[in-house]
Order: sequence, then C-alpha cells, then structure tokens
Amino acid sequence: MSLPFPEYWPTPSPTVAFRERRRRWAERFSGNAVLAAGLSRPRNFHASRFPFRAESHFLYFVGRHLEGALLVLREGQPTLYLEPPHPDEALWSGPTPSLEQLERELELPVRPHAELELDESYATLPPPDAESAFWLSEWCGRELEPASGALLEGADAALADAIIELRLVHDEWAVAQLRQAAQVTGWAHEAGLRGTRAGRREATVRGLMEGVIVGCGMSTSYNSIVTVHGEVLHAERHDGVMRAGELLLCDVGAETPEGWAGDVTRTWPVAAQFSESQRVMYELVLETQRAAIAAVAPGVRYRDVHRVAAATLVRGLTRLGVLRGDPEELYERGAAALFFPHGVGHLLGLDGHDMEGLGDRAGYAPGRQRSVAPGDRYLRCDRDLQPGMVVTIEPGFYQRDGLLAGAGALRDVIVEAELARFADVRGVRIEDDVLVVPTGSEVLTEHLPKDVAELEARRRAG
Ligand code: GLY
Ligand code: MN
Ligand code: MN
Repeated sequence: MSLPFPEYWPTPSPTVAFRERRRRWAERFSGNAVLAAGLSRPRNFHASRFPFRAESHFLYFVGRHLEGALLVLREGQPTLYLEPPHPDEALWSGPTPSLEQLERELELPVRPHAELELDESYATLPPPDAESAFWLSEWCGRELEPASGALLEGADAALADAIIELRLVHDEWAVAQLRQAAQVTGWAHEAGLRGTRAGRREATVRGLMEGVIVGCGMSTSYNSIVTVHGEVLHAERHDGVMRAGELLLCDVGAETPEGWAGDVTRTWPVAAQFSESQRVMYELVLETQRAAIAAVAPGVRYRDVHRVAAATLVRGLTRLGVLRGDPEELYERGAAALFFPHGVGHLLGLDGHDMEGLGDRAGYAPGRQRSVAPGDRYLRCDRDLQPGMVVTIEPGFYQRDGLLAGAGALRDVIVEAELARFADVRGVRIEDDVLVVPTGSEVLTEHLPKDVAELEARRRAG
C-alpha cells in the first residue's frame, strides 16, 4: 500500500550549530549561569510518563532531550552535567550513550551530576513547571518560581536578555529546522484536506494529520485544533461529527526532533465546496492575511502588521455591509476586535509561541507594553522586525456566542440582517509561518494551498 505522504526523515543540525550558539552565548553573557533541561512528568502514575521534551533554552544550546541535564556556563566555558546511565537502563530503554560518548558527540565537556557544585550566584531562567522549578531550586540554593519571566531581576534578567537576543534572530541552522517543520506541517494539512468527509468525526482528520507528523519522525508542536467550531479559539475537543455545509478549522503544526515548530491553520469546507457566503468571508480573511504578510519587512513594527490586518478586515466588513459607518472611524473605535479578537500572530521558533515562558520580555521590545484595547491586548509580539525573525500571520473572522450582546458601544455598527447572511461561517483562520528577509519576507509555509480554488480541488481529489 502506498503511503499518503512522502517517506521522509528529519535532518539534524550539525554539531557546529550548537558549538557556535554556545560560543555566542558566552560572548553575550559574562557571569556564571545554569540552564536545566527539566524533568519528565507522569501521565497518570510514576512509570507512565509523557515523552520527555527538554526545555527550549537548553535545547537551543544542546539539541538533545537529556532528562535532568544541566548546562553550566562558568567563566565563559560550557559544561554539561547529567546522571550517568543506570546499569539497568539498557534493559528498559536500550543502549544509552555513556558520558564519554556524549562528550565526543556533542563536542562539549560532559561530567556527572556528582561533580556539580552551584550556588545562588548562578543566573538561571524559570523552568516551565513546578517540579522542575523545585528540583532546580535545590541545585541553585534559592527558590525559583516556574515560568515567572516577567519578574526576573539582576543576573537572571541579564541572562534572559542575552538569550532572547540570540533566539529572536534565527541562525541558518534554525531556519533549516523551521523549513523542515513547515514541510511536514504542509503534508499533514494535505492529508487532512483529503480526508475530510461529511459524517466523519473531527478526530479522524486529526488522526490523519498527526499520523503524517509522527510518520515523518516529528511530534506535534502544540495540541492540535481540528474543529467545526472555529469560533472557539483553542477548541481541543475532536468528537464532533462533521456535516456538509460546515467549515473545518485545522490548526496543526509539526515539531522537529530538535524542537523547532511549525504552526499553521487552514480552514476548508466539509463538503467539496464553500457556500457562497463562506467563500466571500473566507476570501476577506485571505485578503486580510495577504495584506498583513505584505507588510512584513525589516524595520516594521509588528504591532503595525496587526493594525494592517485589523484595518483590512474592517474595510472588508464595511464593503460587505456587515459593519456600517466610515471604515477609518470604525477601525479607530476597535471594531475589528468584534470579529477578530486576538493578535495577528507571534514569534515562532523552538516554542510555538516562542519564548513565551519569559512572559512579554521576549515578545515585546523594552519599553513597550501590551495595550488594554480589545483584540490588541492579545497581541503577543510588539517588536521591530529584523531579518532572521520568524513570526506567524494568522488573522481570523469569528462569530462567537454572545457577540451582539457583548458588543457594547459598538452594537449599533453591526448590521444584523447582513451578518445573518454569514450564519454558516462560525470561524475562519488562516495562519502561515513567515521569515523576515532583507528584502521583505518569505512564507515558509507557502506550499500549503489556501486559495478557494486550490482548497476545493484538493477536497474533490480526496
Ligand atoms: N496554535 C496556536 C496559535 O496559533 O497561536
Ligand atoms: Mn499561531
Ligand atoms: Mn496555530
């Protein structure tokens, strides 16, 4: 039986990538520091655990998921500390590299935990979960809170800023990883498109999409969203039966074995064709997304990309008669957030929302803060774009329950009778991963279909 996706295996980054990143780290941070890979977490009982995924800062410099490992930077020299494999380890897990083998493979000094001595002067970053934070606190001799990036002070803050500077602008090896994640994410979406049928469950499409990702040696980079209720922004139930006449929203991304993420959303009809109203609204979201992508370039403030998206959507909704009034004025009054209540996207890298574990310290440039305005308050990034940064561009249109009741002072600008024409459009989002290049931008996920005609052709071919 032929596979519905190409036979493929990810290519790892060369050892020099990690050596070079560690060198650049030492160049930017002069103190002593420790980065923890973290600990695996039980699923339900001790021996049944979630697959271990190392913390992203650690992964950036080491590239391996080494549970319990600590990367120490001392007087400019990195050393990796971990527990030597237990003699029984091979019985349960197969051959595990010795510390000497790891040292040769990583081109990095590797020593046993027993030799590690740290004190509270070592800078570190907040681990993502309480157990890892408690464990690292024991090593460092001071209490660390999980994921409290906004509260960092002193050397910890300086360490965070040095690493943010490195991770914001992706090197050639990171871009190569992101391209691989984008490639496999694309195949997953193709499989989902072809496997969508009225009468099937959302879970079937999720299974097809994640099957491609797993079959290509990757994992999902976040919990997949595969839903006919696209208006629920992070819908993670997949038990619904898809019906002809509905739209299916799929927000699914692959993660390479080194942890680099794809993050893509496509919305397509359950039947082989969009209804007229679905096509019209879909094309407006696509126009909005294309306008936002066209705005991505070095030196552009990401908040302004969000504004381009919001203004384009408001102009389009006015053109369709769904909003009444002057589009500029409507935009200024925040009318976009009625139907597009989230930000246009976020940084992408080792984390789906890259470095969000550091709060807004990574996403927002120093001195910039989140707006409190509806919609804008969920904007996860407000930096000036630079070549090598990767961001998502993901505007949407959603009709949430309580939309009219919650519209407040904007209630009068919604033309209910016109909006009613779009009753079969609950949620549309279109999301791509975009690399900033010196001349503008490159869409890493360009190969995924998103025109109405392309999507319908794929649906028919399924
Ligand atoms: N997958 C979540 C997001 O797009 O931000
Ligand atoms: Mn996203
Ligand atoms: Mn997404």
